[in-house]
Amino acid sequence: MAKVLVATVKPFAPKAVEEIKKVFDEAGYEMILLEKYEDKNELLKAAANVDALIIRSDKVDKEVIDAASNLKIVVRAGAGYDNVDLDAATAKEVVVMNTPGQNSNAVAELALGMMVYQARSQFNGKPGTELKGKTLGIHAYGNVGKLVAIIAKGFGMDAYAFDPFVDKAVIEADGVKVVDTADDLYKKCQYISLHIPANEKTKQSINYKILSQMPRGATLVNTARKEVIDEAGLLEMLEKRTDFNFISDIAPDCLSDLQEKFPGRFYCTPKKMGAQTAEANINAGIAAAKQIVSFLENGDRTFQVNK
Ligand code: 3PG
Repeated sequence: MAKVLVATVKPFAPKAVEEIKKVFDEAGYEMILLEKYEDKNELLKAAANVDALIIRSDKVDKEVIDAASNLKIVVRAGAGYDNVDLDAATAKEVVVMNTPGQNSNAVAELALGMMVYQARSQFNGKPGTELKGKTLGIHAYGNVGKLVAIIAKGFGMDAYAFDPFVDKAVIEADGVKVVDTADDLYKKCQYISLHIPANEKTKQSINYKILSQMPRGATLVNTARKEVIDEAGLLEMLEKRTDFNFISDIAPDCLSDLQEKFPGRFYCTPKKMGAQTAEANINAGIAAAKQIVSFLENGDRTFQVNK
């Protein structure tokens, strides 16, 4: 009987856990649940004998891969897999997958919700502004970026996108204008919504130089990863440009500094909550469970990211 560990510091909604368990019950697998663990040793111990692992933003490094000597597959129930050591997994022939698109709507809705929150003076009762007619720059047009564009159109925003990996015609088909460089996007847009993954090319790429081109009263929205922002540059921007706002779903390292120095122009959710909806948890959780069964039973490697 195959054993699957569902290890989530930030647990799935109970309904999602129920649905994941159903998939494994039907396959005749044993599911072990490790939620809200505080010590990495708990993960190392729980992973020791399992064939498969489902995680969220939980870190799966070389130590975890080495400790899990029976491990065949890790599925990151979500989009970004920068929390998994792909080289360590590949070295042990462990397949790593994500579940692209399954939690995207939740993240996209939050991005727009955060824009409304900032536009309305963080709900302090003072007059704010509207999103209608404002320019929105979508930095990376993947599953989340596309949904941000669709929702933003409902608000009457004027959407632009920059993504060198997506065909221009695909973006334009959604009624979104394509710009040729990231600089053009930041120059043009009053709101920038970040949807780039964290990798060697993107880390710290959102720096003072690029931000300083944004128009007056601009707002940067980060529902992606904290690593893509150069925090020294962000601080410089907030200090020099008193019209600039930054709202984030991921706590930056300089969180307390920003909270103290820039009230009203900075906001961060208490916990990363972009994908924290029942729907996103159910969709991503079920997809992860099904991908595991399909891989273990039929060798199906769709969505493998460590090829
Ligand atoms: C993702 O990459 O799917 C999102 O950042 C959500 O992450 P989470 O599952 O840790 O909430």
